[in-house]
Amino acid sequence: MKLDTKVTLAGIELTNPVIAASGTFGYGIEFEEIVSLERLGGFVTKGISLQPIQGHPAPRIIQTAAGMLNAIGLQNVGVEEFIAKKLPPLKRYPACKVIVNIFGYTVADYIGVIDRLNQAEGIAAYEINVSCPNVHAGGMAFGADCGSLEYLIGRARASTKRPLIVKLSPNVTSISQMAKVAADAGADAVSLVNTFLAMSIDVETRKPRLSNITGGLSGPAIKPIAVRMVYETARAVSIPVVGMGGILTPEDAVEFMLAGATAVQVGTASYADPRATERLVKGLESWCRSHDVERVASLTGAIDVPRPSVPAPTVSAAAATTPEAAQAEPAAPNQERAIPPEKALP
Ligand SMILES: Cc1cc2nc3c(=O)[nH]c(=O)nc-3n(C[C@H](O)[C@H](O)[C@H](O)COP(=O)(O)O)c2cc1C
Repeated sequence: MKLDTKVTLAGIELTNPVIAASGTFGYGIEFEEIVSLERLGGFVTKGISLQPIQGHPAPRIIQTAAGMLNAIGLQNVGVEEFIAKKLPPLKRYPACKVIVNIFGYTVADYIGVIDRLNQAEGIAAYEINVSCPNVHAGGMAFGADCGSLEYLIGRARASTKRPLIVKLSPNVTSISQMAKVAADAGADAVSLVNTFLAMSIDVETRKPRLSNITGGLSGPAIKPIAVRMVYETARAVSIPVVGMGGILTPEDAVEFMLAGATAVQVGTASYADPRATERLVKGLESWCRSHDVERVASLTGAIDVPRPSVPAPTVSAAAATTPEAAQAEPAAPNQERAIPPEKALP
């Protein structure tokens, strides 16, 4: 069987839907001797800011049951060093699309990074991080407020022709509502989820385990919540959704795609196995072959949701003989009647 693994995301054609997630794959080039970068659909850089950021002091990563908690504090080299040193060697891997994750404390910071990156070549898209839970300003503040998000994405849209992916926070009441705001403001796609705001305490020392006290939870522990959020978001917006959160196996990737994701990102799995992304590309191909799926893209949104069993209205016999009732569609075979007709009779 000839398998077509290509997917189109925000106008970019990816050779397959597997993308390494921001913050878990460095600037990509560090992985060139570990992973065949050409085999990945793409990767997202660590969040890039206008100025270099040192991040929080250690401890900033700890293991938790079925996941990990991090508060890196967006350590990165800054946009100038990224363009000068990190970006050029990536030209050796043209099939692996470079998506630059952008972070700022203010709107002007975000736009400053975009303006500078616009002058550089070899970038397929920007992922605007409005969802980092580990900094005290910027980041999640934009992703948790509709007005701020609309303004930021509107400004970002006006600043670039490159595709804009907005990385959403799960730490909100309605992630699908935030996705709609991002889409209406000009986003070409949304990606979700970033980490869940969380905390861990060492009961012997009575101290928080992270220097930042709180951090972001990722890994398999968050997967079912992330799948639900992707499902709800994909039904709420017409732009593509990139799904992530705890993907370890090919089946996990398929699950996100069935829920509505066009592509998937793989983060924490790379900490346990640095080759996880490439392993997932191969595993997804095998899964498709063994399930007679010829086009990987056909998995997107292909969830088979059972029709809800709708209780029949509890009408009286008299009401059931009105002209409207007579024209009503007959109940589907799987519909249960709330009250059997004979018992509804007075
Ligand atoms: C150590 C670490 C650093 C991260 N840094 C960033 C970042 O700079 N920007 C960003 O948008 N997301 C960042 N993330 C979030 C991941 O990209 C991803 O959204 C999240 O971890 C959920 O996916 P996972 O469960 O597969 O890891 C980071 C995650 C981890 C674990």
